[in-house]
Amino acid sequence: MSPTDTTASDRCAPCVILVFGATGDLAKRKIFPALAALHQRGFLHRATPVVGVTRRATSEAELLAPLDAAKGGGAAEADALAAFRADVRSLSFDYTAGTLRAFVDAVDALAHERGAGGARAVYFALPADAFEPTAALLVQGGLFTAGSWRRLCFEKPFGHDLASAQALNDRITCHFDEPSIYRIDHYLGKELVRNLLVMRFANPLFGSVWDRHCIDHVQVTLAETLGTEGRAGYYERAGAVRDMLQNHLLQVLALAAMEPPATLDAEAIRDAMVDVVRRLAPVQAGDVVVGQYGPGEVGGHAVPGYRQERGVDPASSTETFVAVRARIDHPRWDGVPFFLRTGKRMGRRLAEANIVFRPLSGGPFAGATTGVGPNVISIRIQPNEGISIEFNVKVPGEDLRIETVAMEHCHHCVYGLNTAEAYEILLHEFLCGDPTLFARWDFVEASWRWVDRITAGARAIAFPNYSAGTSGPAAAEALPGEGRHWIVSRDILS
Ligand code: BG6
Repeated sequence: MSPTDTTASDRCAPCVILVFGATGDLAKRKIFPALAALHQRGFLHRATPVVGVTRRATSEAELLAPLDAAKGGGAAEADALAAFRADVRSLSFDYTAGTLRAFVDAVDALAHERGAGGARAVYFALPADAFEPTAALLVQGGLFTAGSWRRLCFEKPFGHDLASAQALNDRITCHFDEPSIYRIDHYLGKELVRNLLVMRFANPLFGSVWDRHCIDHVQVTLAETLGTEGRAGYYERAGAVRDMLQNHLLQVLALAAMEPPATLDAEAIRDAMVDVVRRLAPVQAGDVVVGQYGPGEVGGHAVPGYRQERGVDPASSTETFVAVRARIDHPRWDGVPFFLRTGKRMGRRLAEANIVFRPLSGGPFAGATTGVGPNVISIRIQPNEGISIEFNVKVPGEDLRIETVAMEHCHHCVYGLNTAEAYEILLHEFLCGDPTLFARWDFVEASWRWVDRITAGARAIAFPNYSAGTSGPAAAEALPGEGRHWIVSRDILS
C-alpha cells in the first residue's frame, strides 16, 4: 500500500482476467460493474481482456446485459461501456477434463491475439466447494505458464469452520503459493474502513489517545435492513456469525485495535491485523447474544419473518443476528471491551465503529451529571460515509450550561459522490498484485479459531426473538452493561 495517489495508467501489467461464475449474482452486481469502471478510468491495461466463464454458452450481450440496465443515459457512459464490451469475451466451460484443453486453448488464443502474455488473474465467484476442484483443473489444463504470474481471488466464505478452512487452504496451497492467493473481504475495500489506518496513524490527535487510558470501549455495528435476498441456501448454513462476524466485523476490529505497523508494507499491516485476532480472548458465558427475526416492518413495509422467507426451513435455528463482547489480550486494551454486532432486517442500514472515551476522572467537571456526555469518535462506514466527533461545549448565555455537540467530516461532501466502490478498489489491487487489502491465511485461520468457540458454545434459543425492523433482541441491548449502551452516531446528514 502506497501513500501516494494511484493515477490512471497502465500500472497493472497485462494479463487475462477470468471470472468464474460469470452469470452469478455477485458477478452481475459487483464484479463486472467494477471491471467496467476500472476500464473506464483507464486502470485496465489495454492488452488485458476480460473472460466471463459460464457453464452454458452465453453471449457477451447476455453477460453484460445487467450493465446496460444500470448505466446512466449519457453518451460518454454509452461509449465507455461499448469500449469495455469490446474487451470482454464469454467462454463456456463445463468444468470437466474433457473440455479443459479446448477451454485453455481458447484463453491462450485470446491472450495471443491481444498481446496479454502468460499472466492470468482468476476470480472465483463460485461456491466455496468449487474453489479447489476448479483451481486443480486449471493447473491440470496448463492455464498457468511457468515464468508468468498467476493470481487467484477467492470469494468469502473461505471455509465453514476452522477444520474446513484448513482443509481448503491445504488443498489450494498444493497448487499455489500464498502470495498468489487473494481472499477477498469487501469491507476492506470500503473507504472508511481503509481510513481507519490513516485516521489512527497519520493523526497524533487520535493516535495519542487510542488506548485503555483514554478509551472506555469500542463498538462496531454492521446492521442491514435486507433479509436473505434469495440466498437462503447459503445463509441457512452460514448464519450471521459465519457470514459477517468471522470476516467483516473482525477485519474492522483488527484495524481499529492493531498496533502501529512498522511500515505501510502489505505484510507489516497484515502482521499487525493478525496479531489482534490471535489475541482475542475466548468468549465467556454471557458474552454472546444471537437472534433471529420474526415478521415486522422495515421502512414502512411489512416483511415476513426469517422462517417464512423462501428457501428457509420453517423451523430454522439459523441466527440472523449476533452481538459479542470481545476482549483483546494486549496491554493497550486491558479492560477495554469491544462490542460487535450485526443483523439482518434491522430497523436501519448502518455500518459504523464508535470509539467511546472514558469519563473525566479529575478536574472541575469530573462527575458532572448534566450535559456532559462522553467523547465519541464515530467512523461511519455507510451510509453517509464520514467521521464525527462528539464533545462538550458551553451553551451560549450567562449560565454555565453544557451540551454535547458533533463535529462532522462528510466524506462525499469533500470528495464527491462517485468515488470508487469497494470491489473496484479491491479488483484493482488484485490485478496490480497488492495483497494489503486481502485476508492472509493466518488471519482467516485465527478468525475461525475464535469463531468456532462461539458456534460450539451456542445453545438452543427460542427463535424468533426479535421483530424485523428493530435493533435486535432485548438481550443484545443489555449486552454492553455497566451503564454503557449501544450508540448510533449523530449522523447530521440523514
Ligand atoms: C456479504 C454478506 O459478505 O456482505 C451478505 O454475505 C451481506 O449477507 C453483505 O448482506 C453486506 O455487505 P454491504 O456492503 O452491503 O454492507
